[in-house]
Amino acid sequence: MTVTIGINGLGRIGRSITRIVAGAGDSGISIAAVNDLASTEKMAYGLRRDSIRGAFPGTVTARADHLVVNDHAIRVFHHAQPERIPWADAGVDVVIEATGKFRAGTTARTHITHGGARKVVISASADNPDAFLVYGANHHTYDPGRHDVVSPGSCGVNALTIMAKVLLDRFGLRSVHTSVVLATQGWQRAQDSVVGTSRDDPRLGRATGESIIPHNYVVGDLVRVVLPEIGEMRYSYYCVPTPIGSLAEISGQTDRPVSVEEVNRAMAEAAGGPLRGILAYDPDPTVSIDVKNNPASCLFDPSGTQTTADGGVKVRGWFDNEWGFSNRLLDIARLVSDRSPVTSRRVTWSIA
Ligand SMILES: NC(=O)c1ccc[n+]([C@@H]2O[C@H](COP(=O)([O-])OP(=O)(O)OC[C@H]3O[C@@H](n4cnc5c(N)ncnc54)[C@H](OP(=O)(O)O)[C@@H]3O)[C@@H](O)[C@H]2O)c1
Repeated sequence: MTVTIGINGLGRIGRSITRIVAGAGDSGISIAAVNDLASTEKMAYGLRRDSIRGAFPGTVTARADHLVVNDHAIRVFHHAQPERIPWADAGVDVVIEATGKFRAGTTARTHITHGGARKVVISASADNPDAFLVYGANHHTYDPGRHDVVSPGSCGVNALTIMAKVLLDRFGLRSVHTSVVLATQGWQRAQDSVVGTSRDDPRLGRATGESIIPHNYVVGDLVRVVLPEIGEMRYSYYCVPTPIGSLAEISGQTDRPVSVEEVNRAMAEAAGGPLRGILAYDPDPTVSIDVKNNPASCLFDPSGTQTTADGGVKVRGWFDNEWGFSNRLLDIARLVSDRSPVTSRRVTWSIA
């Protein structure tokens, strides 16, 4: 079955999705339409040339109201308000909302009520979606009758949750502290723009290339929404001036003392088994750029594992904040497009 998707916002995430679909051959996904405020010519240029990913591995041209990607025509719209985008006219079933502007479940739902799509996946930690679904951790809780607008959280949430899932299932996990160190985002400023920024925390308007910028982002809260057994959580978040490649760390208490070897073996087994493609494992000494183009939500780094005799544990993983997350958005799009009865899709999902 091929899922026809529409993408609202052809920025870093929208273009990553387009590249993944174009490069995958038979991915089970077809992009029927995109919407962005830019001209079709600029969209084509943005796909052909990319400072992080390099030249597009194929052809992209602009033709009237279409982008032509490797001979596949994608309908282009240019509407600022989501409720004006006629997705149904282009045959779109699932919309990926990737503008960063319409994170509220109520606004994103207009892709369905006004645009005629059937499901919406918001590419961010949304406000009030019908469900938060982190692929590999709780995606089996998807209920097609109740969940029309869903959010997979953020790239950091996916990396943290997938490591937490393995620790929780294998050893028990509580009193959790998380850290995310995130590569530069498009909304950051090259020079100080503290007055102009719409972000609540003025530090987020500081010059990107000059500082490690701490921020009280509530990423940890979503890990707890997806894995409520974890209980109490605290979190730290830092923006750093690297162009791509980010870091996630979790520390907490396990139910019994565990060794470094036990933890690393559990991660390697999950990566080679039930979480294949979502969690990756690499014993080679890794730095952030090494994770570029990795499609996993998290590349586990066994050299980061530490344990204490009283059950303390700390683990580290890397993630390509655009590429891994975009692959998960496509996984979620496939999931929500499935019209088969929920009972046939439910699986017992435990790493233990
Ligand atoms: N980049 C990451 O690493 C990452 C990872 C995970 C999640 N996310 C989330 O994904 C979302 C998109 O992030 P991004 O990095 O792709 O942002 P981005 O590069 O700024 O892309 C957003 C795109 O949407 C366009 N746009 C803005 N307003 C629009 C409107 N009203 N209608 C249609 N298009 C509009 C933007 O155009 P202009 O450039 O002209 O404004 C831009 O092309 C955000 O919620 C972000 O938090 C990002």
